[in-house]
Amino acid sequence: MCLLSPTIPAKYQKDLQMPDPIHIHAVCKPTVHLECLLKENSTCRFDLIREDVRQWMVDNYSVIVLDSDVLGFDIHETLCGFIENIRVVEVSGSLEEVLQLDQVELEIHIYKFSKIVNHSEYLEDEDDTPAANIINLPSEILEGIWETLIFEDDLKKSLLLFIHAIMLFSDHGVDQNIIALNRLIILHGPPGTGKTSLCKSLSQKLSIRMSKRYPRSQLIEINVHSLFSKYFSESGKLVGKIFGDILKIVEDGDSFVCVLIDEVESLVSARKAAVSGCEPSDALRVVNALLTQLDRLKSKPNVLVMATSNLLEAMDEAFIDRAGIVSFVGNPALAAIYSILRSCLNELARARVIESQEQIITYAEAIMKLYSCPASDSSKLYRISEICKGMSGRLLRGLPVIAFSRYIQKPGLSLADMISALYQVAKEEQKRLEQR
Ligand SMILES: Nc1ncnc2c1ncn2[C@@H]1O[C@H](COP(=O)(O)OP(=O)(O)OP(=O)(O)O)[C@@H](O)[C@H]1O
Ligand SMILES: [Mg+2]
Repeated sequence: MCLLSPTIPAKYQKDLQMPDPIHIHAVCKPTVHLECLLKENSTCRFDLIREDVRQWMVDNYSVIVLDSDVLGFDIHETLCGFIENIRVVEVSGSLEEVLQLDQVELEIHIYKFSKIVNHSEYLEDEDDTPAANIINLPSEILEGIWETLIFEDDLKKSLLLFIHAIMLFSDHGVDQNIIALNRLIILHGPPGTGKTSLCKSLSQKLSIRMSKRYPRSQLIEINVHSLFSKYFSESGKLVGKIFGDILKIVEDGDSFVCVLIDEVESLVSARKAAVSGCEPSDALRVVNALLTQLDRLKSKPNVLVMATSNLLEAMDEAFIDRAGIVSFVGNPALAAIYSILRSCLNELARARVIESQEQIITYAEAIMKLYSCPASDSSKLYRISEICKGMSGRLLRGLPVIAFSRYIQKPGLSLADMISALYQVAKEEQKRLEQR
């Protein structure tokens, strides 16, 4: 029997219109996230201090601004003794950057750096190559990285919201046979675009966000190259062993575990090669072992696997298919280049390597001044940013040192001198890239 799809009468067509996502947002109160770092020696209870912070915010603030520090708690009797800093970090359910406190839900995340020493896990092979590094979270060494990373398309926020959605579905007991909750994120793109830094800082972020539910969090960085030991035939077994160990940690339901597989293509490009007869079947065993292990982790609510690669095309399709998000991370566009260089110059001024009384203005402000003040520092930085198109974030963050070493060489010069040096170096690097 052939079933025809029904045609909906014209008078009902209007009822079929979908609400746009902005309308969906408008129905719920936005949630603003505040992160509150405790002093190293604080011994207070997190739930009590959370309520104190909430009350103090309500008593003292009517408006809050995203991406800013909350000031003034240092004169509060209790808070000043316990808290190092409070930051307004994100909002979900709104696109505004300035929000009325009485119009939002406040989600306050209290955290403290983990004091448990980070360590490397050694497998029993002869040269003792660590198969994985374990970093206990939140970690002081990862603090602040998230804020320094600048991407288009709100990549950072969309990753956080995706994980939030997975956790929410999972908490509601959604049947995974009906809705797939794929806890694998793949970031791919050219070198130096911030993929590894983003994964590490995402794990830090999650450890802070989830601390109410998971008192312990860990980042496990798998050393892919150690898996290809001289006993290549053993690699499949090694993958099984590492993930077996990871599963044991995950099964302690109090820990949230982020697994990072950097440069994953070397692990999962083998199938294509093996099928075409170029590689031994050992390589295929490694890929299959990894896929099996990912499937074992799939049902666990407290795990996230992140993988980075320079070459998506080289990767096994079955691996890519298991990902909840596959995101391309490219070289920064103009606005991001400006923001990266701006942060470098502001940092040099803060550290008194150059003399400057004022901070360089933001990209949005710089655009407005571009034609009215073409000789201003921000307009010059805008022009340098244009020259830097096509450069990676890693190269951009290295330009100030090259500029200083080639053209300045001693501290105390002005911001204008540094900008001139940066302009020269940007042109030189642009030429070098063109010649490649
Ligand atoms: N979008 C960005 N915003 C700010 N900084 C960036 C950005 N991209 C890269 N960087 C800087 O470049 C450095 C290198 O980044 P990272 O190692 O994370 O890149 P990657 O994409 O993993 O590179 P690779 O593919 O070579 O492993 C970081 O220290 C980071 O500060
Ligand atoms: Mg990397």
